[in-house]
Amino acid sequence: MTFSDKLPRPFFILAPMDDVTDTVFRQIVADCARPDLFFTEFVNVDGLQSTGREHLLPKLKITDKEKPVIAQLWGLEPENFYKTTKELAMMGYAGVDLNMGCPVKTVIKNGACAALINNRPLAREIIEATREAAGGSLPVSVKTRVGFTTVDMGWIEFLLSTKILDMLSIHGRTAKEMSKVPADWGLIGQAVQLRDSLSPATLIVGNGDVTNRRDGEELAAEYNLDGIMIGRGIFHDPFAFSQKSPWHEWTKEQKLELFARHIRLYTDTYQDHQRRFEALRKFCKVYINGFDGAAELRAEFMATDSPENALKILSA
Ligand SMILES: Cc1cc2nc3c(=O)[nH]c(=O)nc-3n(C[C@H](O)[C@H](O)[C@H](O)COP(=O)(O)O)c2cc1C
Repeated sequence: MTFSDKLPRPFFILAPMDDVTDTVFRQIVADCARPDLFFTEFVNVDGLQSTGREHLLPKLKITDKEKPVIAQLWGLEPENFYKTTKELAMMGYAGVDLNMGCPVKTVIKNGACAALINNRPLAREIIEATREAAGGSLPVSVKTRVGFTTVDMGWIEFLLSTKILDMLSIHGRTAKEMSKVPADWGLIGQAVQLRDSLSPATLIVGNGDVTNRRDGEELAAEYNLDGIMIGRGIFHDPFAFSQKSPWHEWTKEQKLELFARHIRLYTDTYQDHQRRFEALRKFCKVYINGFDGAAELRAEFMATDSPENALKILSA
C-alpha cells in the first residue's frame, strides 16, 4: 500500500510550528482529535550533522501515539539532507518534508527555506539528495509558498516538474506577505491543475487560515485538494480536527487539567532541561481562555518560571 493509499480524502495535517508542535503537543492533539498526519517542527540538517546535534535531537523525539509523523528538515547542504534522511528512515518516521517556505529573516538571509524559491539549482539538489536517501520507501514532500516577493507559479511548476515529490503542501501566500494578508486559495487551486498535467501522482495539500475540519472539507472539495493543513487554528481549539468540537463547552477545570497534563508530559519528556520551560508560555492562550478570570490567570502564569509553580497556579 502506498503512502497515498493509506490516507483518506481529504486528509488533515497539523502544520509544523516551531516551538509548538513538539512530541508533547502532538500527543495532546492526538488525544483530543487526531489529524491523519503530523509534522515535526523544522529541524536544521546542517546543525544535526555537526556539533549542534545534541541540542537539536529533542526536536526529533517521537512516540507511537503520534504516528504517522513526517519529519520536516531545513538547511543548505544537500549531503546533510542525505545523511539525515538515512537516519530518519531508522527512527520510525513516515516521511521527510523539506521546508522551502519559512520567511523568517534570520533563516532566509543565509539562503535557506523560502530563499530557495530564488535558488532553484540548490532546491533541486536538496530534493534529489533527499529522494536518493529515502529510496522508494520513505515519501518525500515539500512545504512552500506561492512565491517570494510576488506570486510565482513558475516555482510550483518547477517543483512539480521534478516529478519525484510524493506530496506538495502550499501555503497560499508569498514569503514577503508573511501572514499579513489572507491566504489565496485560488492559487492553491491553480497548483492542482499544474499537478494534473505535470506530476499526477503528487498529492496537493492546501494551507492558510483554516481553523476547523468543516471549512477544510469545503475548501478541499472546491479546489479538488488531497489534503488540508491546519496551523494556528489549533491555538483556538485543540479539537480543531474533530467533526464537532466540544471545546467551547469545556469547563475551566477541564481546560486547566489538560494544560496541567501538557506540562507534566513536557517535564517527563525533556529531562535535564532539554527544552526551556518558557516555551510553555505560548500555550497559555490555548488553555487559559474562554472563562471568567482567564486574563488574570494568564498574567499569573506568564510570571512563573518553573513547571512546579505553573502547576500550583493551575490547581489553586
Ligand atoms: C509559531 C509558528 C511556527 C511555525 N513554524 C513552522 C515550521 O517550523 N515549519 C513550517 O513549514 N512552517 C512553520 N510555520 C508556518 C505554519 O506551518 C503554517 O504554514 C502557517 O501558520 C499558515 O497556516 P495557518 O494559517 O493554518 O496557521 C509556523 C507558524 C507559526 C505560527
